[in-house]
Amino acid sequence: MRPFEAGDDGEKVGQLLAELSEIDGFPPLGETKFVDFREQGLGTGFIAEADGLLIGYAHVLHHVASDAWELEMAVHPQHRDIQTVEGLLEAARPHADGRLLWWVFGSEAISLAEQAGTEVLRELHKLRGALPPTDDVPLPDWVEVREFRPGIDDDAWLETNNAAFAGHLENGSWTAEDLKERVGRDWFDAEGFRLAWADDRLAGFCWTKRHSAEVGEIYIIGVHPDYQARGLGRAIVVEAMHYLAGAGSKTCILYVDTSNPSALELYRSLGFGLERVDRCVVVPNG
Ligand SMILES: CC(C)(COP(=O)(O)OP(=O)(O)OC[C@H]1O[C@@H](n2cnc3c(N)ncnc32)[C@H](O)[C@@H]1OP(=O)(O)O)[C@@H](O)C(=O)NCCC(=O)NCCS
Repeated sequence: MRPFEAGDDGEKVGQLLAELSEIDGFPPLGETKFVDFREQGLGTGFIAEADGLLIGYAHVLHHVASDAWELEMAVHPQHRDIQTVEGLLEAARPHADGRLLWWVFGSEAISLAEQAGTEVLRELHKLRGALPPTDDVPLPDWVEVREFRPGIDDDAWLETNNAAFAGHLENGSWTAEDLKERVGRDWFDAEGFRLAWADDRLAGFCWTKRHSAEVGEIYIIGVHPDYQARGLGRAIVVEAMHYLAGAGSKTCILYVDTSNPSALELYRSLGFGLERVDRCVVVPNG
């Protein structure tokens, strides 16, 4: 185990992450984490090697909004054993100033996290549904859906998003800078960012993301508390699913926290099924 060093390691880790995405069918790290780590120098990275070859990578990042220290790791399938995992956990532990949280994706990683004696803090379900949606749900007549206008709708979106997700660890405290950074990503598509206006108030929104020609995502959906439980959430998800289908997507994925029964029930009723379980666990002190 040794620290990550800028330069050669960046390239090698990038290759490992790409290889694991191919093998597992999903990226080994969360969307922003390796980018945050490399480009903003926000954390500490570690390298696991065997016979001079890179077999694993981990990093600890400080999540400013929630003041949490978060760990993620990517390990080559031939080395997915408790020894490699324990080695990376041991290297990571001293770099968290307090409790260390670890995001694990899928059943194989969950099993290793259990063997390492972690405690489950949160569980996310990755769901998948077919497109186009079978339900046709008309939008309430008190809203009008328009696409997001960068630089114009920012404040309205921040207000509605942060109200909808008030108290939520990651989603409830977006800043103007966070939004600007996300809107600047390669995949951003203003047309797929659907805003439901009730006159001049933003009642709700559904932000979609296209992963490939065939796969779209319900990336973030929120309805302002003043407008919840009036049918807008269901209608705007379905509207966004039609948008994705119209853009060529054949299936739609999304992530939902299992502590969110209204969202789980909404997606279940729209025919979404469970594809993968992810967890946020607490790393024992060792
Ligand atoms: C989840 C959310 C988008 C639903 O929007 P909404 O406008 O309140 O929902 P709707 O009125 O269209 O209801 C849709 C379905 O959600 C479920 N639902 C809504 N409120 C619920 C509640 N209090 N308890 C249980 N289920 C509920 C029901 O299945 C409902 O179906 P129904 O139309 O047959 O009653 C909204 O509550 C929200 O913004 N929550 C905070 C942000 C969030 O959690 N986003 C989802 C992250 S994955």
